[in-house]
Amino acid sequence: MKATAIANANIALVKYWGKRNKELILPQNGSISMTCDEMTAKTTVEFSDKYKEHTVVINDEEFKKDEKDIHGHIDRICKLAGIKQHARVVSESNFPVAAGLASSASGFAALTVAATAAAGLKLSPKKLSILTRQGSGSACRSIFGGFVEWHRGKKQDGSDSYAESIVDKKYWPDFRMITTIVEVKKKPVSSRAGMSQTVETCPYYEGWLKTVDEDLKLIREGIKERNFEKVAQTAEFNCLKMHATMMTTKPSIIYWIPATMEIIHAIHKMREEGIPAYFTIDAGPNVKVLCLKKYEKEINKRLQKLDGVIKTMVCKPGNDAKIIDDHLF
Ligand code: DP6
Repeated sequence: MKATAIANANIALVKYWGKRNKELILPQNGSISMTCDEMTAKTTVEFSDKYKEHTVVINDEEFKKDEKDIHGHIDRICKLAGIKQHARVVSESNFPVAAGLASSASGFAALTVAATAAAGLKLSPKKLSILTRQGSGSACRSIFGGFVEWHRGKKQDGSDSYAESIVDKKYWPDFRMITTIVEVKKKPVSSRAGMSQTVETCPYYEGWLKTVDEDLKLIREGIKERNFEKVAQTAEFNCLKMHATMMTTKPSIIYWIPATMEIIHAIHKMREEGIPAYFTIDAGPNVKVLCLKKYEKEINKRLQKLDGVIKTMVCKPGNDAKIIDDHLF
């Protein structure tokens, strides 16, 4: 009863920001993401009578319960499989955890794939996505590689709120997302708390919701047409609209630090010089820069020279989450 899975993180081009049901994690709006090949979580799960409780170790540190209820997610899987044993979970990710870099997406996707396999469940990708969603919303997109849409759904039980591939990673291999790290600390307000505060207090939240369907349509079309400008322009504006709702909550949530602004201005300057670079930012200060392969080296060189940039990671469209043989313990 042991299995290991790897899953890539994903970065949203149309953001998920707000829940209509917190228990089942049902979103207020649909979202679209790219699964990022260089950002990976690898997780081994074993169920056994020798364990008296669930233990979870992430990047060599024992994980204690917090608002992202990993232990509760393991219980959910045990219940589904009808097993009584406890689990030992060991996970490693190759990038900073909880800094707005989608670590919970790759983490919950790898955990769900490994734990269901260890528990002897055989679930379709759609069912895996629905199950993963209940651990962390954005993670349901990391079940799939390439470009992915998470459908909002309408049903109260969440059975129509799942992610699905738009195109696989081979469809647009020249698309790049350069993750530009300016901060590795845990963010002060989690995305879970931040989005809840936004839904409750932001006077512009309805305005955000009204524009999302048009962004989804443009990005879906842009991906299928391989139209970089259409995808990247829409994604950048969608990110700014989301941050506008964050900034106008009570109390205000501002995830950006000076280095974030530094990168935004550098990207504007690149565009003035004819270099097509765009940005997107999640619930944290780190910036993901969208570009095509042709401009990747030049843009990466410029980003690395900016004040406050610690590291960059160049990502291509990544893989589906999958089972591997190489266990962590
Ligand atoms: C800004 O998926 O981390 O990255 O569902 O509460 O676990 P929970 O939230 P989470 O939120 C991600 C928010 C975002 C946008 C996105 O990835 O779509």
